[in-house]
Amino acid sequence: MKKIKGKNYSKALIKSLTDIRSISFFKIKEIDIKYSLFHMKKRVLELGCYPGGWTEYISKTKPEIYLVSLDKKKLQKEIKKEKLFVIKGNVFSNKTLCILKLLSPEKYDLIISDVCLNISGIKPYDISNQFLLIKRIKFLTKELLILGGDLLFKVNFEGINKEIKKYFKHFKKIMFLKLRCTKRGSSELYVLCKNKILK
Ligand SMILES: C[S@@+](CC[C@H](N)C(=O)[O-])C[C@H]1O[C@@H](n2cnc3c(N)ncnc32)[C@H](O)[C@@H]1O
Repeated sequence: MKKIKGKNYSKALIKSLTDIRSISFFKIKEIDIKYSLFHMKKRVLELGCYPGGWTEYISKTKPEIYLVSLDKKKLQKEIKKEKLFVIKGNVFSNKTLCILKLLSPEKYDLIISDVCLNISGIKPYDISNQFLLIKRIKFLTKELLILGGDLLFKVNFEGINKEIKKYFKHFKKIMFLKLRCTKRGSSELYVLCKNKILK
């Protein structure tokens, strides 16, 4: 491999970083490398895809995956991938749920969510919103995830692990992941639920 030195190295580094849509690209990469997130997954549903870091990672590294990516905001730059559907919609809307069902009648093998609701700074209000989102994600896994499927989602508060375990009893294993590339001091956490079972 050709070595890049000095000024050229900084330029190459900046270019590689500016080519990436969001820092989230590195988060999903870290989880994938450690936990083989996409191993044997054919149909993946991504919630909260804007500005497209995760979508881009999957498109670049998993061309065989059928990917449905959703956000309430529209992606600004198109991502080139054969088996990709990007849809604009709200995770809480039942119309969106119908579209997600139509796009994969056999359901999904993996659901990944990076959805982040607006944080007001008023803790009780923000935590109750966080639980609304967790409840909705639980409902979506019941409706859209195959038996044996996995779920990954983000939470922005620490200290709610017990409640999360109760909510996701319909998975065999639950892991709480603190990522190396998350900002220092942030309470951001990813929850990886493995192997959906009947409950
Ligand atoms: C942290 S960003 C996601 C970053 C993305 N994973 C990436 O790799 O670029 C969180 C996203 O959640 C989306 N979001 C928040 N509430 C939503 C909702 N109710 N329905 C759909 N998307 C929502 C926001 O629009 C925002 O783009």
